[in-house]
Amino acid sequence: MYRRFFERERIGRKQAEDLLEERSRELYLSNQKLAALAIKLEKEVVRARADLERRKALENQLALGQKMESVGQLAAGVAHELNTPIQFVGDNINFLKSGFDDVESLLAAVDTLLEKCQSADILEDDVQAIDKLCDQIDLDFLREEIPLAATQALDGTKTLTRIVRAMKVFSHPGSRSFEKVDLNQLIEATLSVSRSEWKYHVQLVRELSDDLPLISCLPGELSQALLNLIVNAANAMSGDTAGLKSVLTVRTHRDGNYAVVEISDTGCGIPEEIQHRVFDPFFTTKGVGEGTGQGLSISYRIVVKLHRGTMSFDSVVGEGTTFQIRIPINGAPEVYV
Ligand SMILES: Nc1ncnc2c1ncn2[C@@H]1O[C@H](COP(=O)(O)OP(=O)(O)OP(=O)(O)O)[C@@H](O)[C@H]1O
Ligand SMILES: [Mg+2]
Repeated sequence: MYRRFFERERIGRKQAEDLLEERSRELYLSNQKLAALAIKLEKEVVRARADLERRKALENQLALGQKMESVGQLAAGVAHELNTPIQFVGDNINFLKSGFDDVESLLAAVDTLLEKCQSADILEDDVQAIDKLCDQIDLDFLREEIPLAATQALDGTKTLTRIVRAMKVFSHPGSRSFEKVDLNQLIEATLSVSRSEWKYHVQLVRELSDDLPLISCLPGELSQALLNLIVNAANAMSGDTAGLKSVLTVRTHRDGNYAVVEISDTGCGIPEEIQHRVFDPFFTTKGVGEGTGQGLSISYRIVVKLHRGTMSFDSVVGEGTTFQIRIPINGAPEVYV
């Protein structure tokens, strides 16, 4: 009887142990599955976070693009409005200048007449009255200064005309089609617009080729890409406050079916360890409020994606940097913007 009891108990214990082992195995498998799920979930979270960041970057770019477009439209409107008054101010100054040249020849004749009256001792009172008046109005000063003032005013209107032309090139409201453009002129307009960034501390050297054909491009966008490179170059040289050795060189030349633009600076250079990151959106070494890190990524997109060109650079720390862009002369007809 005891034997049967022990036998039953042994079987019962064995069954319980088997059940426990089975449950443990199931638990182990569930744990494994859970761990795999946790890894998968972690990957999903990383991917979702990267997606979110990419989306944010895209949204920022889109917002910037829209902002640029409305600034462009505003600039186009202002440029259009300024064009006519600048023209008539220039025309009127020209008229005053050539009118004063005629008056000057009359005044010279009056001088001769007065001298003749003086030596003939006639009309003494009248001659004296005229002399007095000449002193009062400081006629000598006026005769010297009026032509100079007119020349300076004309120079001013020429500068205004240049700025307005540059604003027009830049704004190109809604123009999203390829146009045949004089690349050197586009560069001049870009240099005009960015003058305040470099004029105080940088010496500008232009080496623009004479035999570049018109190139097919999106002028507004391409000027934007060039502007970013010029501003970066000027920023890289801002440490040189004496402004004696900083040189910004802008070169153009033709290389087969490509127009090549090189923008060189004698600035701080780009350290090797960050060279692979400079085209990344939002990568910047500048302080808050000084740079958003978008310049080069936008330029890259414009040159490479929109124009099917190439963009590269060479840099030596402490010596300077040269950015080179190559644009297909006949454009990228397969690109629909
Ligand atoms: N010519 C250059 N010389 C030295 N460093 C440069 C030059 N051009 C770009 N860099 C480096 O590359 C970084 C990224 O340039 P990018 O134009 O994209 O942004 P940013 O100039 O910092 O800001 P943003 O252009 O948006 O105002 C700069 O912060 C700078 O460190
Ligand atoms: Mg920049």
